[in-house]
Amino acid sequence: MGRTTLFETLRTSGLRGIFTRLHDGFIYRHHKRYNRQFDNEFDLDTEESIVLDSLDFEHPSKFDAVDYEATPIQIVRRLIRQAKLDPKSSTFIDLGCGKGRVLIAAAQAGFANLIGVEFAKDVAETAQKNLRRAIGTTDNTNWSVETIDAGSFIPPRQDIVVFMYNPFGKSVLEPVVKWMCEHSAAGFRVEVLYYNPQHKNLFDNIERFRSQKFSVSTRFVLSILSWHDAAWYFSTHKEIDDAEH
Ligand SMILES: C[S@@+](CC[C@H](N)C(=O)[O-])C[C@H]1O[C@@H](n2cnc3c(N)ncnc32)[C@H](O)[C@@H]1O
Repeated sequence: MGRTTLFETLRTSGLRGIFTRLHDGFIYRHHKRYNRQFDNEFDLDTEESIVLDSLDFEHPSKFDAVDYEATPIQIVRRLIRQAKLDPKSSTFIDLGCGKGRVLIAAAQAGFANLIGVEFAKDVAETAQKNLRRAIGTTDNTNWSVETIDAGSFIPPRQDIVVFMYNPFGKSVLEPVVKWMCEHSAAGFRVEVLYYNPQHKNLFDNIERFRSQKFSVSTRFVLSILSWHDAAWYFSTHKEIDDAEH
């Protein structure tokens, strides 16, 4: 089937349809350049998407999984810059880490401890290969990629920054939110950066998490240079906060 002409778009969707189409094209071209630069810098391919059904693996959570597609590198960097937790003493976790782009960006941003969680074995192996290539084994950065379901992950006993690019539906996010609450109740701070937050109501409905407001420039970038919105949450710790003040 050929591409729809602008005239057809105008006829079926009006001026708003034309604007959306031109804007989509602009976003796509803008990020393509930066994503390619990132891949070229380390000789990686994090850009190409992967349809999970094309992989030879079965998993009970596959029905609720989102295919691999990487967060645009500029958006990743901007969201990571918002994180409040100390990059040296906390652990950065990408739930559904795909080929590892976000983890590499987090290492570049100074995070010393990184964990990728990816349930598709082939994809997790690619992430490991990419991290080895881009970060290597330095004394300053500890990283690992765990091939497990995000719902069964057990976080390290540290403050954690958790990144998610809409990796899965509610059936997995519910147990994820549960272990986050338990981690917070155990006295560790939990910060969540959730890109394309399709199920953000799971956080909005929990008292333990407080929604944070992105900076004006980040909100501007998300509205102009992104197809998706993002949400940011921080766990509340009355006990710790009272003791610190
Ligand atoms: C939209 S991609 C995001 C990739 C990466 N976080 C990024 O932003 O560049 C979602 C990833 O989540 C993984 N995934 C889906 N369900 C999962 C689950 N239950 N446990 C762990 N990983 C999962 C998929 O295999 C896919 O690689």
